[in-house]
Amino acid sequence: MIDVVKDSSRDEIEDKIILAGRIGGQVRREGVARICEGTTYLEVMDYCERRIVELGGGIAWAQMAVNDIAAHYCPEQDDVGVFKVGDLVKIDIGVHIDGYIADNAMTVEVGSVTGVRQELIKTSQNALRAAIKLVRPGVQLWELGEAQTSETEKAGFQIVRNLAGHSIEQYRVHAGISIPTYNSKEKTQLVEGMQIAIEPFITNGVGLIKEGNNPSIFMVANKRMPRSPYARKILEQVAPQNGLPFTTRWLTRTLGKGPALLGLRELLREGIVRAYPPLPEVKGGLVAQFEHSMIVKDKTLVYTRHEDDTW
Ligand code: CO
Repeated sequence: MIDVVKDSSRDEIEDKIILAGRIGGQVRREGVARICEGTTYLEVMDYCERRIVELGGGIAWAQMAVNDIAAHYCPEQDDVGVFKVGDLVKIDIGVHIDGYIADNAMTVEVGSVTGVRQELIKTSQNALRAAIKLVRPGVQLWELGEAQTSETEKAGFQIVRNLAGHSIEQYRVHAGISIPTYNSKEKTQLVEGMQIAIEPFITNGVGLIKEGNNPSIFMVANKRMPRSPYARKILEQVAPQNGLPFTTRWLTRTLGKGPALLGLRELLREGIVRAYPPLPEVKGGLVAQFEHSMIVKDKTLVYTRHEDDTW
């Protein structure tokens, strides 16, 4: 499902990746700065999407997740979610330039950062840093997992084992290689020029997530033509994503709620679109996550770092 838009030289591609990363890091920082008691999920996520475009990027996604939800939540058009003091909030921002993707995430606590939430945040940062330190051509995937687990266990928490980092290619968020968060014994080696994202999810639960209900994030999985005009309209609207995610409120805002949901249901039933539901921790543990994207080189190029990041 890769559609190459045009041929770019290696340098041009790297410039696009770096620019996507600069925008992604900036939007992630600006987004979390707007999270405070009383602001709504919707205004923060709409803001992030708007800023990606204003800064010259394409929206790959702007997602969030609160407390025991690890990832994959987007507010709907009439979402009533409001941030409360003590919420542990993950913001995950994806930006692309001609399909070249920057994927990055961070976690904040609403109000002052205290106690176990602060420890979870610190541990996720440490686990990410420990893995990034090892990234170079020739390193084996299990080593990256082992580094993340070891930092997590030192702090007395669990790393979520059934979530993983991933390789990235043009218009492909998950390009085939998973970066484990534990010693998976996977001996595949990183290769010069490979683009990867590392994202430890740390919890005070048991370290497993499951798929929840009410998905609001989708990707086109099969290029087949559906029957109903609503479903066709949806495919037309999301065609520029070229396989990257889209969210319900994009559709309900243009087509109206009834037609959008009808069309979506058909696309799901026909297997043309796949849903990515929210991912709660199985025992309801709090989850913190940090994520950077990078290009594997002798000196790793972490292209989603922001100047204010200390991790
Ligand atoms: Co990612």
